[in-house]
Amino acid sequence: MPEVPSYRIFASSQSASKALAEDISQLIRSRDSEERTTVLGLATGNTPVQLYKELIRMHRDGLSFRNVVTFNLDEYIGIDREHPESYWQFMHSHLFNHIDINPENIHIPEGMVAADNIESHCSAYENQIEEAGGIDLQVLGIGRNGHIGFNEPGVSPDVATHATELNQVTINDAAEAFGGAADVPQRAITMGVKTILGAQRIALLAFGSSKADIVERALTSGITSEVPATYLQSHNDTTFFLDQDAGKRLS
Ligand code: GLP
Repeated sequence: MPEVPSYRIFASSQSASKALAEDISQLIRSRDSEERTTVLGLATGNTPVQLYKELIRMHRDGLSFRNVVTFNLDEYIGIDREHPESYWQFMHSHLFNHIDINPENIHIPEGMVAADNIESHCSAYENQIEEAGGIDLQVLGIGRNGHIGFNEPGVSPDVATHATELNQVTINDAAEAFGGAADVPQRAITMGVKTILGAQRIALLAFGSSKADIVERALTSGITSEVPATYLQSHNDTTFFLDQDAGKRLS
């Protein structure tokens, strides 16, 4: 039987973010003490912004990211790194520009890869994760339709990093940032569910009442491709970090 992921409901999104940042810093320090690198899977979106702020604060207080390797979940296809809405840009402005990570240790799928090279780019990404020793801790958000990364409803759990079409809910949710739905990229490269489930540990952050229904479904409905986050029920070390609004449907 799959184990339902555990969840923790915090007084605020800030305290949830602080708790996860604390876990991440302990992981980095413990692996540093064994002279091992820490491999983090990272997410974009509004939800992890406070987590990244907290990690930057911890860095100012002495936490080093010199031995940290990162892999981001996803990137839009067809926009370049300098585009204000690219995930490359997001990660650099919200985290990487403010910590001592080695730029060579940062991995984000390349949104401008030529159509003919997408498949090889995706398999190279998987190889890089494997060569790094696999992901120690994967941070996730959740889309209102239950997507994780850009694994949209209908996705198979057996697919690794791949190119995908964005779901209409996802496009609508991104429309404001892009100045209209017509300007939201239609496709993205994303780690697959298989890649995500390969992480040792998974921490999913969800805040606000707009996430309450999907959080409840992710945790309590059976595993279904219609809600990709339900695949996390088959992972043995997943925790949802929720604020009170996102957790309000859970007893
Ligand atoms: C995007 C990202 C996801 C993220 C989701 C939710 O679609 N690809 O990784 O979890 O948005 O975003 P937010 O945290 O802004 O609600």
